[in-house]
Amino acid sequence: MLGGGMVPGSMVLVGGEPGIGKSTLLLQVAGRLQELGHSTLYVSGEESALQVKLRAERLHGSAEDVALLNETLLETIIATAGSQRFDAIVVDSIQTVFTSDLEGAPGNVGQVRECAARLMRFAKETETTVFAVGHVTKGGGIAGPKTLEHIVDTVLYFEGEGMLEHRILRATKNRFGSVDEIGVFRMTEEGLIAVENPSELFLGDRLNNSSGSAVTALLEGSRPVLIEIQGLAAKAGYGTPQRVSTGFDARRLALLLAVLDKRAGLSFSQLDVFLNVVGGVRMQEPAGDLAVASALASSVYDRPVANSAIFLGEVGLGGEIRPVSQAERRLGEAAKMGMTTAYMAERGIPKRGPRGIEVIGVRTVGDLFRQLFNG
Ligand code: TYD
Ligand code: MG
Repeated sequence: MLGGGMVPGSMVLVGGEPGIGKSTLLLQVAGRLQELGHSTLYVSGEESALQVKLRAERLHGSAEDVALLNETLLETIIATAGSQRFDAIVVDSIQTVFTSDLEGAPGNVGQVRECAARLMRFAKETETTVFAVGHVTKGGGIAGPKTLEHIVDTVLYFEGEGMLEHRILRATKNRFGSVDEIGVFRMTEEGLIAVENPSELFLGDRLNNSSGSAVTALLEGSRPVLIEIQGLAAKAGYGTPQRVSTGFDARRLALLLAVLDKRAGLSFSQLDVFLNVVGGVRMQEPAGDLAVASALASSVYDRPVANSAIFLGEVGLGGEIRPVSQAERRLGEAAKMGMTTAYMAERGIPKRGPRGIEVIGVRTVGDLFRQLFNG
């Protein structure tokens, strides 16, 4: 996530809603750093050292070897970290820390900004890596991580969906590397465990032979991940039909609906449309267009597409299907996950595709739907 490692003297902000697992993640990171010989101090302003220690004992790795400090006064934190020359410190959370130089209560914008700026300076001056936790807060009163994004070097957000056990770590800013990677974890009794094969996780709950579902392969940073797209087109009540999308740009959805109407004769004007990218993933590349279009068409026709099919392609305004980047790698992941058919732009079919997957070239969405749903 940090683009190849921890940069000495950098400051990383880890944001996320309360209870999502930020403390767990950073305590595990601290344990791992300690294990690798980088001395690490974990400063908690929210939990007592004993509470943190008890948690550390339950976690995977060597979290119990991490030095702990229960402190909220910035001056003391910096003095402790500086005098013992730690390689890394974790400040959990930035909203509990305050400096005696300012009047305001901990958590207000002034305090949070000033403390972050001083920690940043401390990081640079001493070559210490500083991790700061920032709670995403609903409503005013307490300053959230957004107010700090411009100050720090790297911003990671830790997110999860509802009660699901998996969590996604995403970079939104990184001065030292790319922001394309995602980290996928499961929250367990022993803390967070990295999910080595996210495709398996994201496809795990997929229904068999259900209409309105189609799979694509997205590139999440350096790795391809299979993702299910769900579309539901249902008869609208009175008034303007609803368009609700989760994990997919709403304007892009509107565009695709217009293309499907004009180029494939599917009218959505009387239909509410719901679109969901499963697993809390956000689709940020056009390669998933074809799966979105297919999921929606499948819902309209109320005909499922084959469970073992995958869709790769950008959909243009003419309804034409365009090639995707790095098709071979996406197809490779699909084959690995047991997919047997791939639909994609004829022009983009790699010369030597992976074994076990039949690649079918399609020119337009109309072509594709005729093949899938017999027109
Ligand atoms: P926590 O790291 O405290 O969240 P944050 O710091 O973002 O507020 O963890 C939140 C939840 O995770 C907590 O409700 C309990 C659960 N959890 C586990 O399921 N397993 C564990 O090993 C730990 C430490 C926490
Ligand atoms: Mg916490």
